[in-house]
Amino acid sequence: MEKRQELYAGKAKSVFETDDPDRLILEFRDDTSAFDGKKVEQLARKGRVNNRFNAFIMNALKEAGIPVHFERLRSDTECEVKRLTMMPVECVVRNIAAGGLCRRLGVEEGIALEPPTFELFLKNDEKGDPMINESLAETFGWASREHLARARELTFQINDILQKLFLEGNLLLVDYKLEFGLFHGEVTLGDEFSPDGCRLWDATTREKMDKDRFRQGLGGVIEAYEEVGRRIGVNFDQA
Ligand code: C5P
Repeated sequence: MEKRQELYAGKAKSVFETDDPDRLILEFRDDTSAFDGKKVEQLARKGRVNNRFNAFIMNALKEAGIPVHFERLRSDTECEVKRLTMMPVECVVRNIAAGGLCRRLGVEEGIALEPPTFELFLKNDEKGDPMINESLAETFGWASREHLARARELTFQINDILQKLFLEGNLLLVDYKLEFGLFHGEVTLGDEFSPDGCRLWDATTREKMDKDRFRQGLGGVIEAYEEVGRRIGVNFDQA
């Protein structure tokens, strides 16, 4: 597959067209951002680590029957994906209270959330990714009720699969954000799954091993991502 012009540069990834109208190439860069792009730094090895991490998770989800856009690794920092028509919404599931939930509701960090919560946010940096709901998404045409219902169903199925997978590495999946799009009419998981877009705590010590290390200036960001990867069986060295 031939790589063509850049379609879009996000905060941590760039998207390229290819000679196949149904396929795109994602390039994971070392750029790391937080707080809607207000804190940005380059972290050595991050593009490579997240590309491999994402490939491992996407393959695990695909094997479990989840429709995913990921097709294959292409290089150290690139992968090939199906071209989706993205829904501009972010689906967030929380198993344990942290981050935005604690700030908004004054809930204590670390309490178990039973059943897990589901939140929708509009993907819009200028507006600070405001929280929305199915009604607003439908009225403003961001996504249909039917597509959102399917995205929600898939998001919870993914929760079951990934909670188990991470627990085998003695890690708690605290929360995560997913983005979906349509591929020939089918709601399909897009974007990436890496420690940039989820919270993972050591199940014994509750040490943070995700992007909160960057947000909170704790250091050892990529080392933590690599440790998480090693615990769940990601091969960071393969050609
Ligand atoms: O900030 P908040 O607590 O709402 O984030 C919930 C989860 O979604 C976290 O794992 C965070 O990393 C992820 N997230 C994200 N991108 C956003 C917003 C949240 O990856 N724009």
